[in-house]
Amino acid sequence: MFAENHAMPLFPTFVWMHRLKPEDTKRVNDTIRTKLLSMLEPGAEKLQNFRHQTDQNLHTLPEFQEFSEYLLAATKGVMDFMQVAEEGIEITSCWANINTKGGLTQPHTHPNNYLGGVYYVDTPENSGSIMFEDPRAQPKLISPRVHQSTGENSGHTIMNVEPGVLLLFPAWLVHSVKPNPSDQLRISVSFNLMFSGFTERVSPVQWEGTVPTT
Ligand SMILES: [Fe+2]
Repeated sequence: MFAENHAMPLFPTFVWMHRLKPEDTKRVNDTIRTKLLSMLEPGAEKLQNFRHQTDQNLHTLPEFQEFSEYLLAATKGVMDFMQVAEEGIEITSCWANINTKGGLTQPHTHPNNYLGGVYYVDTPENSGSIMFEDPRAQPKLISPRVHQSTGENSGHTIMNVEPGVLLLFPAWLVHSVKPNPSDQLRISVSFNLMFSGFTERVSPVQWEGTVPTT
């Protein structure tokens, strides 16, 4: 009957996962955790439903230097994967999310950047997940019953994560985090990346005008 039969993914949406080596995870996370906890107001870690976000300049702090180097190395891999010809990309912002029990993150994107992402420092029991939503509107119009939910037939994907995991994704991809069910702090570091010299080299139109000929 069929000489050939396969499904072709068109316009796929990628989330790139990197996992640090265990020895690097411990060193980086211990350094980050110590710095972040020193920045908290006394007693904040005992508040319920608390979500603390730091300033967005963490990548400029010496305690985040090693992490920033890993992040840029991972980003270079993404640029190569996507065949992006831009030579420069930089961290435009980097901030930490510290959630006590009940703390959550509403669905959101990371506007005005090419890539967004998150790195995990502490993920207490049952708190290590992130949900991504299908960016396409059309599949939601027809939603048949399925034998099993899969990445191909679901409107969202829940990804399990743990300390040392670094996720990079398109900045426009909607994502959220469920409430932290644990009495322990959930700590993650979020960030944005954008092409250097964007307005000089990327924003201008890439085509040239044509002159009518008679
Ligand atoms: Fe985010």
